[in-house]
Amino acid sequence: MKFINPYLLAISTVFFVNCSSNKETLTLKDSYKNDFYIGTALSADQIEEKDAKVDSLIRTEFNAITAENIMKSMYTHPQKDKYDFTLSDKFVAYGEKNKMFIHGHTLIWHSQLAPWMEKIADSTEMKAFMKDHITTIVSKYKGRINSWDVVNEALNEDGTLRPSVFLKTLGEKYLVDAFKLAAKADPKVDLYYNDYNIEEPAKRAGAIALIKKIKAEGGKIDGVGIQGHWRLHSPSIEEIEKSILEYSALGIKVAFTELDITVLPNPWDLKGADVNQNFEGSAKMNPYPKTLPDSVQTKLAERYASIFKLFLKHKDKISRVTFWGVYDGQSWLNDWPIKGRTNYPLPFDKDLKHKPAYDSILKLNKTEE
Ligand code: G3I
Repeated sequence: MKFINPYLLAISTVFFVNCSSNKETLTLKDSYKNDFYIGTALSADQIEEKDAKVDSLIRTEFNAITAENIMKSMYTHPQKDKYDFTLSDKFVAYGEKNKMFIHGHTLIWHSQLAPWMEKIADSTEMKAFMKDHITTIVSKYKGRINSWDVVNEALNEDGTLRPSVFLKTLGEKYLVDAFKLAAKADPKVDLYYNDYNIEEPAKRAGAIALIKKIKAEGGKIDGVGIQGHWRLHSPSIEEIEKSILEYSALGIKVAFTELDITVLPNPWDLKGADVNQNFEGSAKMNPYPKTLPDSVQTKLAERYASIFKLFLKHKDKISRVTFWGVYDGQSWLNDWPIKGRTNYPLPFDKDLKHKPAYDSILKLNKTEE
């Protein structure tokens, strides 16, 4: 038997482990550390660090956090005279403990309102609600939360204003008022308008008009959040690029705030079909219940690569890119627009393993030092 020097074996093992671990320890946040924050959205369980493996992944890969649900008004302000900051306090403490950029989501949104808010029917009451809600929450986390989605999803697809309870009671003035109230409560925090599909031309024009109006009327707005709930083939890279350029030309930061890419069929693409209930549970609408075929995995990786290539090209205009969830298994896209499907929209799979999409994002921008 050939003699193996145990000393040399030990040295070479250490060397090999170091070399390979060097490569392996390059993470999303490290790779993009000179470009923009890489964020994720946390569930209540993740804020409470209930799963050590998930927690370690979050801390290793991301340097920015958003609460996926628990800072929405139904949770923070369940009754007129009652706020509940139990989970949002934990969320902020988690971000501080891990030295992360902390984003607040969201102050004024028509969805996930507490039932009592939905009953507000006149302008005096709505004005009082907005003042109390925004001032209380923003002041509470003054100097601790780095940026806020002040208004979320105020636009229709054609760029007109959504007929929300806020618009109905206060008219469009509620928009600038929300930004003024937030700036008054914390003059230094970055304030964002956040919406989906605002890279599409008509809605983008509406968002640009809205941002200009807020500025013209003396509101402080620091950025726009393009949510980025996207598909494999749309929106086009050209429209995303136009959006980055047009929004940053307004003198504001551009963030991609809720990035994910569905690989499943969209029932609304099926023209003329009666979609909703009929497709629930159908194999056609849930084509990959066990694993994602390599061919689609590759398409997803290529799509993420082209998106991040564009982000890098415009890194001087982009403040943050946040994925909407930590890993595939927890994504909201498993239950929307059809409940109980298996989707694969994020860079980490259901077992928390890197997908080819992860490697393609990392490979673009290796900054090993
Ligand atoms: O917490 C309850 C739980 O008690 C109950 O048993 C369960 C039964 O369905 O529901 C749980 O609440 C769910 C909640 O997420 C927390 O998991 C709601 O049903 C569900 O509707 C809610 O969905 C969230 C959705 O916003 C609500 O509009 C998604 O998780 C969240 O990812 C999604 O996030 C939004 C952004 O805030 C704004 N932009 C779009 C984005 C995707 O829709």
